[in-house]
Amino acid sequence: MERKTTVITDEQLRHQQQVCEMIKEYWLAQGITPKAWVDTYGCQQNEADSERIRGMLSACGYAIVNEGEGADVIVMNTCAIREHAEQRVFGNLGALSHYKRRHGRMKIFLCGCMAGQKSVADRVKNSYPYVDGCFNPHQLWRFPELLWYTITKNKRIFATEDSSGNICEGIPIVRTNNLKAWVSIMYGCNNFCSYCIVPYVRGRERSRQPGEIIEEVKGLIAAGYKDITLLGQNVNSYGKDLGLGIDFADLMAQIAELPGEFLLRFMTSHPKDASHKLFDTMASHDKIAKQFHLPFQSGNDRILKAMNRHYDLAQYLSLIDYGRSVMPDLVFTSDVIVGFPGETEEEFEDTVKLIERVRFDALFTFIFSPRGGTPAASMDDPTTKEEKNARFDRLCRVQNQISLEKHQAYLGKTVRVLVDGTDKEFLTSRTEGGRLVRLSGSSELIGQYINVKITDCTTWSLVGEPV
Ligand code: SAH
Ligand code: SF4
Ligand code: F3S
Repeated sequence: MERKTTVITDEQLRHQQQVCEMIKEYWLAQGITPKAWVDTYGCQQNEADSERIRGMLSACGYAIVNEGEGADVIVMNTCAIREHAEQRVFGNLGALSHYKRRHGRMKIFLCGCMAGQKSVADRVKNSYPYVDGCFNPHQLWRFPELLWYTITKNKRIFATEDSSGNICEGIPIVRTNNLKAWVSIMYGCNNFCSYCIVPYVRGRERSRQPGEIIEEVKGLIAAGYKDITLLGQNVNSYGKDLGLGIDFADLMAQIAELPGEFLLRFMTSHPKDASHKLFDTMASHDKIAKQFHLPFQSGNDRILKAMNRHYDLAQYLSLIDYGRSVMPDLVFTSDVIVGFPGETEEEFEDTVKLIERVRFDALFTFIFSPRGGTPAASMDDPTTKEEKNARFDRLCRVQNQISLEKHQAYLGKTVRVLVDGTDKEFLTSRTEGGRLVRLSGSSELIGQYINVKITDCTTWSLVGEPV
């Protein structure tokens, strides 16, 4: 595919930095420390974008807060993946008008994947007059300029022009966690699965230069980060557009060979592009976590075809088998959609069979949600909501039993975990495979890898004791 990526120049970035300085001085001159709240919806890609939005806001002199009341700027970074996600945002957007009434100088922005849809931008423009600005993921790097416009002109701004996508290096990042970090290695998606909105709102697939990624990861390791996740909609396509002869497995290997104590993860992988080389690379590097998120979406070949997924059940199963042959303890997780248009009861049963055959450690289950503009949204869909709900419940029951049995298999075993926080009176930690382990112990353990003996479990988590 032709590379249409626009690289944001140093000069363009410098202009944004100058705007940040102007905003900072504007507040300083009034003796005010302004406050900003960034509210994030959706996937880790959005979490990573929010860290860049916070980075820009910090450069503009804003203190980052965790609530909307009294904030001088609120940014809602939204998700468009399912209708429910959009409804939540519109619901919460309503509440912001009250905050704004009590704090007149507040500026409200809506960005992220919802802002990538013209219909949403129009709805915000027409029905939410108190929203000051709206920008799609392609315009994120220009946020300082957009904010300055709303402050100085006191007018609304809608930066929602479509684009095949850009890459901007050097946006400051304020990370929310000091142990776990997300690193975007690529943006956009070329796959156009027939149900999915992402390619329409995030543009074409484009990879960051390996040197930039490695420098970022080195910085994270030096700063003490212990759990690093490489992000992309289909990480297996990494590098295809660069023409450097480096693929995702090569990138993983280069990072895994960096000195330091850390675990490397990635998401998401598309089964059509997951290679044996990637599994082999994982198997041969201790620093690559033995965890693989490999969404299958459906266990039926006709549905997979209608979804435009480009693999069949047999190919999917053979990947799972290969992964397990080189890494017997590999933790597999996946995504599945129930009630795709025209899915019959028998076709749904194929999905149940797949789950019973593979026995995933965890599964993210979704009911099909039509997204305007995608091919699946206009497909015939005779299945009733009740039938879809019944399938969804059945799938969850099957998976919950498997998750519980998988967890029971840990009882009595000793596993290495990274202690990463607290939850009520417990410490929380994660195994290499990403399973949650609660334990008791001193909070001084946070940030350390320790061995724990698993003493109890539920469907959702494990309980352990430090040994
Ligand atoms: N790029 C990732 C997925 C990102 S979206 C991948 O290809 O695996 C996360 C999950 O949301 C998808 O895997 C899919 O299971 C689900 N999803 C996406 N569009 C959906 C829709 N229209 N309705 C229901 N679930 C959807
Ligand atoms: Fe959506 Fe498919 Fe791209 Fe994943 S690979 S983001 S499901 S179009
Ligand atoms: Fe949602 Fe956009 Fe992620 S649609 S799932 S936030 S890429």
